[in-house]
This record gives sequence, structure tokens and C-alpha cells, in this order.
Amino acid sequence: MMSTSTATSAIMRTILDMTMNNPPLLVAPSILAADYGAFAAEAQLAEQAGGDWLHCDVMDGHFVPNISFGPDVVKALRAATTIPLDVHLMIERPERYVERFIEAGANHVIVHVEHEARHDVEWTLNLIKSHSKRAGLALNPATPASRVKPFLDLVDELLVMTVNPGFGGQAFMADMLPKISDLRAAAPDVDIVVDGGIDTETGPRCFEAGANVLVAGTSLFRHQHHDIAGAMKVLRENCQ
Ligand code: DX5
Ligand code: ZN
Repeated sequence: MMSTSTATSAIMRTILDMTMNNPPLLVAPSILAADYGAFAAEAQLAEQAGGDWLHCDVMDGHFVPNISFGPDVVKALRAATTIPLDVHLMIERPERYVERFIEAGANHVIVHVEHEARHDVEWTLNLIKSHSKRAGLALNPATPASRVKPFLDLVDELLVMTVNPGFGGQAFMADMLPKISDLRAAAPDVDIVVDGGIDTETGPRCFEAGANVLVAGTSLFRHQHHDIAGAMKVLRENCQ
């Protein structure tokens, strides 16, 4: 049952939504946590369960200490599902690969703002937009909100990492909540995405803070009974 303070916050949030016209709540299952031997079937399950976008984590072993998959896998996911592919590039020199991922079927391309990603952020965002795709900018837990503010006019989404990037299944960092609220105040019309450790308890806290897109990997694909639809339903209900 919802506590009184949670219920009050939910009412406040609804009033805020009505007055500020925040973008609607969306859930983006993260394929990183799916069964790698059955990616196509898992993508279909995520769509049937009501997933709004399919989040695809691309890792290069340099920007983050892990390697995941590249454009050919994104292409296979594109063939398996019709929902938008939200491609999160945790890679160095992302501008070299943006067009490959767009050709593979990415609808949204998200790049990182940190210097370690080694690119001209404005140039890369403009490249994504020149292909009429949605452009996103991500920031790591240690990166302050001020780093993305110069680019707000160029972005369709801001992705707040709520774990250090590289691996699924990590614990949510609650100290990111003020950053979410800060960005929501600065960018009322932009999709604010949270990524890392999102479940039926942490997702609603992010929503209350101002996020409207919840990326969830482990809590959906590794649900005890693989009930992605059931887990997603509870996630959405807890945000009411
Ligand atoms: C982490 C990735 C996340 C990851 C989230 O580096 O960016 O998208 O898939 O997974 P969970 O929900 O398991 O924390
Ligand atoms: Zn991600």
C-alpha cells in the first residue's frame, strides 16, 4: 500500500504534470539484461508486454569496462520489433558510428557528454538530427547537470545514469534524484530518461523527481517468473 507521503507526492506530481505539461510516462526495457541466445524473442516479449521503446546498450570496452554489441545486432532487433530503438552509445568517438547505427534501424541515438567520449558533442548531436533521428545526451553519476545545459536546445532526451555505466544489475544511486529534478526544471519539454537499477520501487521515485522515461533491464527481463508484462504493470501503477 502507498504511504501517505508517497500518495501526497503522487498527487503533487499529477498537479505538476497538469500545470507543466511534462512528457508522458514511458517504459523502455533494456535488452542488455535479456537472454543473449534469444534476443529476437525477448524483444518481441518486451513489445507485447507494452514496452514503449527498446533500450539498446552499446559498449566498446574503452568508454566503459565492458563490451556488448554493435550495429548488426541492432539490425536484428530492428527486424524483430516495431517499437522505437533507443540506442545508448557508451563508446569513444561516437560520431564515427552514428550513421552505422541509424542505418541499422536506431530511432534515437544517445551519446555521452563526458570528455572521455572524445567527441565534439554539438557536432555529433547535429549529425544525429541531420538524419531526422532523435538525439539524446547522457551523463554519468559523477557528471554535474551543468555539463549538459549548454546543449538543451539540441536534445530530445537527457539520460541520467543512476548507476556507473558498464553493467546491468547494479544498485540504484538515490543521490541522483536532485539531478533529475534540476534537469526537469531546466528542460520541461525534453524526455528525461533514467537508466540503471530501475525497478518498481526506484522507478516511481525517479518519476516523482521529474523523469518520464524509465529504462529497466534486470527488473523486467530477469523477473522471477519472466513476467515482463506483470512487472511493467506494477512499475506503471506505482507511478500513478
Ligand atoms: C548500464 C546500462 C543500462 C542497463 C540497466 O550501463 O546503460 O541500460 O541495461 O540495467 P539494469 O536495469 O539492470 O540496471
Ligand atoms: Zn543504457
